[in-house]
Amino acid sequence: MNLFEELDSFLERAYAPYSGFRVASIVVTTEGKIYRGVNVESVAYPTTMCAERNAVFHAVAEGVKPGEIAEVHILARNEAGAYVTAFPCGSCRQVIAEQSRGKATIHIYRGEREVEMHSIASLLPFHFASLD
Ligand code: THU
Repeated sequence: MNLFEELDSFLERAYAPYSGFRVASIVVTTEGKIYRGVNVESVAYPTTMCAERNAVFHAVAEGVKPGEIAEVHILARNEAGAYVTAFPCGSCRQVIAEQSRGKATIHIYRGEREVEMHSIASLLPFHFASLD
């Protein structure tokens, strides 16, 4: 199963009763392990969590360390059921930048053969990285 098929296999698990916008994400580590996430909405709308951060947080909970996240894959479907390009939001970019030490490649699908790739550094240049 390729990563598009893998994303598609659990996209339905997204909990999106308010927006109808489903997102699935897979984090791939430098060792080739994968961790999944979906968006989980809340009736208290701002407490919703994005698929990408859920995937990264899942990886961290399983022991993945900063710098070990190599790729983040994203697949989304709108309310009408069509695949749409979903770029990670600003908060997700910040978390991905920190957990990959600025090195992740983001793979954004619009179909099995329609994928665009961007470095996290290009999506979030000059990310906040230090409290010094
Ligand atoms: N969402 C994600 O999960 N990832 C993104 O990159 C953009 C937005 C979710 C949040 C919310 O549940 C729905 O998509 C609509 O904004």
